Amino acid sequence: QEVRLEDYKPTDFEIETVDLTFRLTPSRTIVTNRIALRRRSGGGNAPLILDGDDLTFVDLKIDDRTADSSRFSVSPSGLEIRDLPETEFFTLEIVTEIAPADNTKLMGLYRSNGIYCTQCEAEGFRRITYFLDRPDVLAIYTTRIEAPIKEAPLLLSNGNLKERGPLSEGWHYAIWHDPHPKPSYLFALVAGDLAVVRDDFTTASGKPVKLEIYVEHGKEARAAYAMDALKRSMRWDEERFGREYDLSVFMIVAVSDFNMGAMENKGLNVFNDKYVLADPETATDTDYANIEAIIAHEYFHNWTGNRITCRDWFQLCLKEGLTVYRDHEFSADTRSRPVKRIAEVRLLKAHQFPEDSGPLAHPVRPKRYQEINNFYTATVYEKGSEVVRMLATILGAEAFKSGLDLYFERHDGDAATIEDFLTCFEDATGTDLSQFSVWYHQAGTPVLTIGSRFDASGRTLTVDIEQSVPPTPGEDRKKLMHIPLRMGLFDPDGGEIRMRDVSGIDISGDVLHITDRNHTVVFQNVQARPTLSLNRSFSAPVNIRYEQSSSDLAHLARYETDTYSRWQALNDLATRELIAATGATLGGETVQCSNALIDALLSTVSDARLEPALRSQAITLPGEADIAREIGTDIDPDAIFAARSAVSDDIARHGRDAFESVVENILPGGRYSPDAESAGQRALYLSALNYLTRAALPPDALLPIFRSADNMTIMSGVLGILVHRFPGSAGAETALAEFELRFRDNPLVIDKWLAIQATIPDPGTLERVMRLMGTRHFSIENPNRVRALIGSFAAGNPTGFNLPDGTAYEFLAEQIIGLDKRNPQVAARVLTAMRSWKSLEPIRRDKARAALAVIAQQSDLSPDVRDITDRMLGQ
Ligand code: ARG
Ligand code: ZN
Repeated sequence: QEVRLEDYKPTDFEIETVDLTFRLTPSRTIVTNRIALRRRSGGGNAPLILDGDDLTFVDLKIDDRTADSSRFSVSPSGLEIRDLPETEFFTLEIVTEIAPADNTKLMGLYRSNGIYCTQCEAEGFRRITYFLDRPDVLAIYTTRIEAPIKEAPLLLSNGNLKERGPLSEGWHYAIWHDPHPKPSYLFALVAGDLAVVRDDFTTASGKPVKLEIYVEHGKEARAAYAMDALKRSMRWDEERFGREYDLSVFMIVAVSDFNMGAMENKGLNVFNDKYVLADPETATDTDYANIEAIIAHEYFHNWTGNRITCRDWFQLCLKEGLTVYRDHEFSADTRSRPVKRIAEVRLLKAHQFPEDSGPLAHPVRPKRYQEINNFYTATVYEKGSEVVRMLATILGAEAFKSGLDLYFERHDGDAATIEDFLTCFEDATGTDLSQFSVWYHQAGTPVLTIGSRFDASGRTLTVDIEQSVPPTPGEDRKKLMHIPLRMGLFDPDGGEIRMRDVSGIDISGDVLHITDRNHTVVFQNVQARPTLSLNRSFSAPVNIRYEQSSSDLAHLARYETDTYSRWQALNDLATRELIAATGATLGGETVQCSNALIDALLSTVSDARLEPALRSQAITLPGEADIAREIGTDIDPDAIFAARSAVSDDIARHGRDAFESVVENILPGGRYSPDAESAGQRALYLSALNYLTRAALPPDALLPIFRSADNMTIMSGVLGILVHRFPGSAGAETALAEFELRFRDNPLVIDKWLAIQATIPDPGTLERVMRLMGTRHFSIENPNRVRALIGSFAAGNPTGFNLPDGTAYEFLAEQIIGLDKRNPQVAARVLTAMRSWKSLEPIRRDKARAALAVIAQQSDLSPDVRDITDRMLGQ
């Protein structure tokens, strides 16, 4: 059942064209799949084995003649055809029957809210028809859809509409043709009754493109921002990467039941409606930013994913890492680059670092998998993006561009590999990237252990750098890597020291190229002991071990010219303090926050020259999970929570005036606008308000702010503060009830209400979550509801979920077992919330293991949940 990279073999047959006909009814949809095949030379007379999953076979024709049953064997999961025609070309016509209304896995063709839609990546197409369902089989698709006009006035598929018209008995049909050869995972079909928002775009070379976003009737106005983001993405990809769109229509459909964020099907993206719909009353600034980024991401896939696709699923990062890099750059160009970088690193450290140091660790390009759906991970996506970013850092912007241009030119129309990708950069620039390629092949977060000494008489600074990678499952011995470490030196007055006369390492600009296990780097002509700023802009996704004094960190927080690194210095200072505070809490001592940290934070929050978003990031302390990650072992989430609260109280007491002044002055006036600057002002307002609740502000004072909010950012932000700071208080419960009443018919907003409650840091939250599951607002059938309530509880509530008696783990196990029968992919994803269970203190660790064992004991687990459970338990 395990798939191995080294077993890759091209198919014996190529599929040239696919002609699909769908006769849509909810529980009995007939799919006729006519494929034209070509035998590759040397294939012999091997049988043809097509993939299937849960299919009901109806009929098979070979070269238009009904096939004798002796020539094939068929099951729901495969069709093997023997004695194929010996001619080079032949056709198959395969008829299957499927039931979209019963498809609870939301993979393949399913019906949600009266809308037929598909999700084929990674292996969903085989749930529609028998096929060579793998990304290196590229074919030209023509799709005919038939359905009752009343039920499905709208019939969509990939490419261009060729024909449409009426049929008898109130049915109609449409025929779509996609001229671009594509793998089956990019196929899409949507049918139903939806409203459309239209716009136009003219490409750089003057080709007109019709833009269409389909949403439920009445929600048209909420698609305006997505449309705007789409047009900006299209223009940006032309200007920044020279990539133009290649069809005459680009469609996006928003659906309310979707396993992930969105999907880049050729010319017909399908989105979770959470990432399309927005207006000020119902969407937060974060929602707007996510919509912009995901619209861009899926659009950018048209070149990095669709025009150039993956040879096999081991190459997933070829399209995902590169496309995430592109969407990050888009957001950085569109919004504030340093603010975006800080958010990226926070996210990477919160999700990818724990993954890379726990039982689910895997390389950016894995070598094995049991279930490919479990490899759409933070490592493949976010670390994959960081690897592309390092490539750009190492080569420099221009050389990077020339390599990427070569990639687009050389591999357009291909199903490519990571080796193909890297070879383009080698060929375009003459650089040997063999050591760099280790980033793709080896799991684990590298560690750089650094020491420095300054010799005043010799005016030299010596820096010792050692690289290592901790062992990960199945990989004990690690190779040396090429780590691009950006570094700066600051003199005691805060000026940056130019790095000249350096020996012991390759250096370009401020990038040190670490390639050996040990480097001793000597800087000559350094006048006074400098302060080191390491890993500027987070140039490499590594952990740095370097003893740096609090005053050095404060110095950097003040003088670094790299804004990201200023934040990093503050964050390091806070992390150190919070770790010490956790130790003090465990030892029964009182916790006090140092003046160094308080001064650094408060001078930043009041510094009007800094962007408000940065000031907000600066005063947002590392979260409980961040602190746990830095501590690493024997985690007691309650101690971390108590320590973080005590430190926050201290900061609030000292900073009351500063926070009050922010709260009084920072909010933008006038009508709500989702732009980055206003969003930053709101973020700063909410962080300051949060501190004030620890100094003076009682819950009663929050209720009127909540009630008078004219946008969802402030409204849900204040609700969150109220409910998390004063759980169970009358004010909190009143606000929750008012919010529920107002938004009871908008599930996406109710998801926020569910998530706020699921993340209350209180032992009573488990009971609350169970109670909410029984209300009409929850449905185990909808992935967004499951993620908002159960997912947020398990992944976003360290104290409430990690109860020492293990009851919340038992609860999760029970939910996973139940959910797995409906929707394995969502079940497996929610379960990964427990990926760091091994770093808990022994009592919780035992309870967590026991809960995982309960799941493992089930005999009928899906491959998805089986794979996660086995790896988490280390089997
Ligand atoms: N390719 C999609 C994207 O990155 C995500 C598809 C996720 N598929 C899956 N089986 N988990 O936008
Ligand atoms: Zn993607």
